[in-house]
Amino acid sequence: MKITVITGSPRTGATEGMADAFQAAAEKMGNEVVRFNATKLKVAGCRNCNACGKVAGRTCVFDDDFTSVAKAILEADGIVLATPLYWYSWPWQIKATLDRFYSFLVGGFDLKGKKAALIASCGEPTVDAMDGLVFSFKKTTGLLGLEDVGHVLIPGLHGTEEYKATDACAQAAALAAKFQ
Ligand SMILES: Cc1cc2nc3c(=O)[nH]c(=O)nc-3n(C[C@H](O)[C@H](O)[C@H](O)COP(=O)(O)O)c2cc1C
Repeated sequence: MKITVITGSPRTGATEGMADAFQAAAEKMGNEVVRFNATKLKVAGCRNCNACGKVAGRTCVFDDDFTSVAKAILEADGIVLATPLYWYSWPWQIKATLDRFYSFLVGGFDLKGKKAALIASCGEPTVDAMDGLVFSFKKTTGLLGLEDVGHVLIPGLHGTEEYKATDACAQAAALAAKFQ
């Protein structure tokens, strides 16, 4: 399987660590992983121009780093979004990329049957802090026809190293088994 992973943390901490663990396990199983860090991409938000699909070779008429992300997603069998929780939601960088998924829907680019998973962490001690993020992920994947195959949700993380003392990476690695 080809899997596109998009991470959303601006620092090297839990998100990158869990994405590393997922990627290593997925590659060991014979999958091919293409990875983007949304905080390093130049992706503007969606302008709601509704011209999706009107330029050949792109899902969105605007040509920025989303062009490569969209290509990787269309070629993939699975998508993983890995993110920290910011104000009970997505950090703006990965949200800007997610907003551009609108071009798949309106442009008629079929994502049906591709698998999707969420990896997330937050500072508060209980997973319910991530309910809004999970709701957004479930509804978005549902609308796009993606098959939601699982969530890894790790609460109680503040520093960049704390995740190493939890089973976060083991859970992220186990998620790879859902992409077969
Ligand atoms: C701007 C900002 C907003 C945050 N908002 C929340 C929040 O609403 N709830 C929460 O539990 N943690 C929140 N956090 C904490 C992060 O979600 C948490 O530390 C996460 O594990 C960081 O992941 P990373 O190490 O991959 O960057 C916030 C952190 C930042 C910097």
